[in-house]
Amino acid sequence: MTAVEYAQQSQGRFLEELKGLLRIPSVSTLPEHAHDVRHAACILAKELERIGLENVKLIDGTGEPAGHPLVYADWLHAPGKATCLCYGHYDVQPPDPLDEWKTPPFEPTERDGNLYARGAVDDKGQMYMHVKALESLFQANDGKLPLNVRMVLEGEEEVGGTNIARYVREHPEALKADFALISDTEMFAPDLPTLCVGLRGMIYTEIEARGARTDLHSGMYGGVAPNPFVALAQIISRLKDEDGQILIPGFYDKVAVPSQEELSAWATLPFDEHHYLETEVGSTMLTGEPGFSVLERTWSRPTLEVHGMPGGFIGAGAKTVIPAKATAKVSMRLVPDMTPDEAFAQYKSFVESLCPKGIELTVRLVHAGEPLVIKTDNPYVKAAERALRQVFGRDTVFIRSGGSIPIVGDIEKHLKIPSVMMGFGLPDDNLHAPNEKFHIANFHRGIESIILFFEEVARN
Ligand code: BES
Ligand code: MN
Ligand code: MN
Repeated sequence: MTAVEYAQQSQGRFLEELKGLLRIPSVSTLPEHAHDVRHAACILAKELERIGLENVKLIDGTGEPAGHPLVYADWLHAPGKATCLCYGHYDVQPPDPLDEWKTPPFEPTERDGNLYARGAVDDKGQMYMHVKALESLFQANDGKLPLNVRMVLEGEEEVGGTNIARYVREHPEALKADFALISDTEMFAPDLPTLCVGLRGMIYTEIEARGARTDLHSGMYGGVAPNPFVALAQIISRLKDEDGQILIPGFYDKVAVPSQEELSAWATLPFDEHHYLETEVGSTMLTGEPGFSVLERTWSRPTLEVHGMPGGFIGAGAKTVIPAKATAKVSMRLVPDMTPDEAFAQYKSFVESLCPKGIELTVRLVHAGEPLVIKTDNPYVKAAERALRQVFGRDTVFIRSGGSIPIVGDIEKHLKIPSVMMGFGLPDDNLHAPNEKFHIANFHRGIESIILFFEEVARN
């Protein structure tokens, strides 16, 4: 039996096993779920051992706080063959708002050919495709693989955790490989095999504004006490204009324009702005920089977003208070050749220069990741294209993504190997949102594609 045949015969079991993993609420950002994150790591480690990988271990962080563990495993008994570093993340985003889920986020449910659950596609379901592809290869080849594999699974991707970056930096030899395979991105359209060749980087920040020593009665003190929320609103309103232009001095200096070749390729992608507005964004219109297409605005232009402003009174009804402090969570997506360090320095000094009277500000960097565009002129990308053609029957498109996967930049920089970002999500999979799903057919096509990809690489 071939590995693909094995995978096809095992589809039902593979999906049930994925559901087991999805039932564990491994939300990395919430301290009350720390034990669930660890539980997911342990379950995965057991599974990697069961399918035939070796040297399976959890690697705990060395920082303070320790964060969530990496799961490592390898199989290195194919002399003369390439070594793949498989990366994925087993942590998930918080599921809120809960009342918008049609079925509970941690009770994986099949509906209309989709599997609904938090983490279904980002990234447990996609990470699990690697595991099941390897299991199928072991089963079809008498307990052997056609190439060497190292697998590293992260438990704090969604919080920009630094454990994996530190590990890659400090132990490059422990992850020595010829290329990396990452399945944590999307296909451009259903049935259109896609490799992602660019990601935006990011800096995620918090601005804390402090006014009075303590919360104050807004009638007694309104008119004399500085209000931290108004201060933040004033600052934020000066970071970006109505056209989506970021007003931080020097911010665009390093922004690289995509090559003419890349821009022409994007122009031929099947993209309908109206459909995108209706099915994905759902607002009255799209916004952003005039003169740039939607794909350019989301893939090759930087952006600045506000995620939340904790503080003050947010309960039902009214409370007349001038809060002593307020915070704004503000992030910027970066594109080549911007660097997180420089972008943060420019942002911090600009925010500080906008500080209203009577307010004290602290501008903090929460996490950062580099933007990247990867080259496609390597045998691994060619092998991926051949594998995808066998499964989807058509040519692969190359896209960038507006999202960030911080470790991919570190893999390039410290391991100096190319990454193949072969993702099987769909544009309407609701990543980070209520009713996240994975198209079940794509889970199975993904497993087959990865099996064939490994076989193609081994043939080289
Ligand atoms: N898998 C996503 C990134 C992604 C989404 C890439 C869609 C391509 C297409 C990843 O899990 C993610 O959400 N990353 C975070 C970054 C992190 C540092 C918080 C992001 O992009 O917000
Ligand atoms: Mn992800
Ligand atoms: Mn994510």
